[in-house]
Formats: sequence, structure tokens, C-alpha cells
Amino acid sequence: MSKIRLGILGGGGDSLIGIVHRIASGMFDEFDLVGGCFNPDPNENMSFGKKIGIKKRRIYDNFESLIEAELTLPIDERIQVVSVLTPNFLHYPMAKKLIQNNFNVICEKPLTTTYSEAQELELEVKKKDLVFAVTYTYTGYPIVREMKQMIKDGVIGKIQKIDLQYYQGWINPIIKDPELRKTVWRLDPNKGGLSCCIGDIGTHAFNMAEFLTGMKIDKILADLNYLYPENQMDVDGTILVRFSEYCKGVIRASQIATAEENSFTVQIYGENGCFKWNQENPNYLYHLMEGKPIQILKPGNPYLSKFSLKSSKLPPGHPEGFFDAMGNIYNGVAKTLREVETNDGSYPSISEGVRGMMFIEKVLESNKNGNIWIKLD
Ligand SMILES: NC(=O)c1ccc[n+]([C@@H]2O[C@H](COP(=O)([O-])OP(=O)(O)OC[C@H]3O[C@@H](n4cnc5c(N)ncnc54)[C@H](O)[C@@H]3O)[C@@H](O)[C@H]2O)c1
Repeated sequence: MSKIRLGILGGGGDSLIGIVHRIASGMFDEFDLVGGCFNPDPNENMSFGKKIGIKKRRIYDNFESLIEAELTLPIDERIQVVSVLTPNFLHYPMAKKLIQNNFNVICEKPLTTTYSEAQELELEVKKKDLVFAVTYTYTGYPIVREMKQMIKDGVIGKIQKIDLQYYQGWINPIIKDPELRKTVWRLDPNKGGLSCCIGDIGTHAFNMAEFLTGMKIDKILADLNYLYPENQMDVDGTILVRFSEYCKGVIRASQIATAEENSFTVQIYGENGCFKWNQENPNYLYHLMEGKPIQILKPGNPYLSKFSLKSSKLPPGHPEGFFDAMGNIYNGVAKTLREVETNDGSYPSISEGVRGMMFIEKVLESNKNGNIWIKLD
């Protein structure tokens, strides 16, 4: 069986997430990276493309020329899926043109820079019946998938409270210096979009809350911190969330949580027990039960569900990390493209990307209007 031909936009040698996608796409021997535009600088683009083994003729100057040239190729040579790994403001124009020309897409989060752009893309994807994944990477961890399955199976009973905290500190030294701020695209509204902290990491927490519980958040109340009056982008936020009158919680996100690295902590409380998980230690799922000793679940063990086990490649005790989580998302996309499976949560779809954009906009609206409750769609 031939591999799925993959193209990449962005994700060059200077990027954070590029290597994660390249390694992840090769993890299950499903994809072959055959073309792309990795950097807007033509020299950097060409030298990086060559370095990773792309044929010169398929290292394109921009996304328009990639689409144009690939469409002239016979169908069995043409790129089938394109991963969009650029700064946020480029996701929408790139994804839109790709969809219009019938390419499947794997797009980084946040999906776009506005909710309406995201809705527009979703309509097009549905019309064309394309596969469109949005890489909320953390949903790919095998033990996170176990947590989802156990919650679905009722192991902790009806959910009554959630608490998700995504704390980083990397913006702290930057935000203090107005000159340094200008060097970070995430702090530039023209490139990052509406939001920095909530768009970058709060959206992961929102997606995780809905992914794990299988429920939709109904209302939010947000309090954001911009830290300095002239800074235009949020760098911290606390958001009260309500699924219903009897199931509430909090999403906390920060990029000025001094000295934190990538501490994404998830706590889900049901009527019979609770699950706790932290991204910096992703192979341990803590299951707490009233009046009983704590249980720690680890990936790859036979006591886990099929959903979790099919996301592990190695026997128990071999750590599964961030690359593996992304690999599982790519694998989900491959299985759907090959029509071996339909998407059962093995990759986050465009609908999750659209909800993420809705969440960002509503959080900003709540904060701007004096921290009021806002109903989500
Ligand atoms: N899923 C996750 O866990 C996760 C983690 C980090 C970043 N991200 C997302 O990934 C995206 C990229 O983030 P990053 O941290 O890798 O950014 P980055 O600034 O490190 O890298 C961006 C890359 O895009 C390239 N680029 C810029 N403009 C381009 C253009 N016009 N054409 C082609 N390439 C272009 C740059 O040269 C660079 O290689 C963002 O949307 C971000 O939110 C997601």
C-alpha cells in the first residue's frame, strides 16, 4: 500500500512545532513528506527543504504556488494532505485555499483568528467531505484517551466539577521589555489574532475539558490579565465555566506563571471519584476514590481500553511523550483517509477547532464587558 503524500506549510528549521509534526507523521509509516513551503525566506526555505530530503521541484515559494503546481500533477503523485504549521494569521487563508482545491488538511490550533472564519471553513469542509484535523495534541496521549474512556464508562460517575490549569512562564521575561515584546508574533495581534494566552493554551484546556467529559461547556465568565496597559494581548486568564447548574469548574491559563514550563494539569471530579493528570508527567493517570487507596494507571497495560491501547506502540514502561501524542493524531487521520476507521476521537476534527475559536471570542467578550457570564453557542 502506498503511503499518504503529505505537504507542510510552515514548520521550518526555526520553528517549535515543525519537528513534532515531521516525526509524528512518520511514526506509523503512514505518511511520506513530499513537498512544502517551510519558511517565507526563499533561501532558508530551499536549504531547509533540501536538508530534510524534499525534491527541489517540490520546495515551493509560497502556499499558492504549492497548490497550483500540485494540481498539475497526476492524482497518484499529488499531495493528499497538507499540514498548516505557520503563525496563526496564516491558518485561514492557507486552509481556505487548500479546501477549495480539495486537499485534506491538518491544521495547528487556534484554527483561525476569528470565529466566523472558522465557521466558514467548517461549512466548506463538510460540503467537500474532506478530512480536516486540528492538532489539539494532548488528546493524543494514550493515558488521556484512557481517562476519556473511563469517564464515558461511568467509572467516576456523573461529573460535578472540573479544574484545568495550563501554566507557562516563558512570556514573563519578555513582557517586561516593550522592545523584546515586538519580537514575539504571539504578542502581535496582526499575527497572533485576538488573543495570546487563551488562544495559545487556554484553548487546549477548553478542548480537553470537552474531549474528556463528552459534554459541552454552556457558559463562561472570564477575567484576563494583560499585565501592562500598553500590551494588547492577554498573557493570563481565569475562566469560570458551567456545563450546567450542577456541573461547574474553572479553566486557568497563564504565560506569566513565573518559572513554570509547560504545566498542564487536568482534574475531573465525578460523584464517585476523580482523575488527575499532568502533561509534564504524561504517563501517570491518578484515579482517586473515596475511602480507597489511590490507583495509578500507566500506558500499554492490558487492563486499559482498546481506545488507549491502540494509541500505544510499546510495552508498558516505555515512556510515551509529546511526539507520540501527535503521532496518534496523524495515525487517526491516516486511518480515516484509508477508510479503515471513522473518527472516534482519534483526531480532533474541524468542529473542535471551531468551538475553540468560539471559546476565545466569548472569553474576550466576557472580559471586555466587565467579567460577565456569556452563553456559548
Ligand atoms: N499543538 C500544539 O501543542 C502546539 C504547540 C506549539 C505551537 N502550536 C501552533 O503551531 C503554530 C506555529 O507555532 P510555532 O511555535 O511552531 O511557531 P514558530 O514561530 O516557531 O514557527 C513558525 C514557522 O512558520 C514559518 N512561516 C512563517 N510564515 C510563513 C509563510 N508565509 N509560509 C511558510 N512558512 C512560514 C516560519 O518560518 C517558521 O518555520 C501556531 O499556530 C501555534 O499555535 C501548537
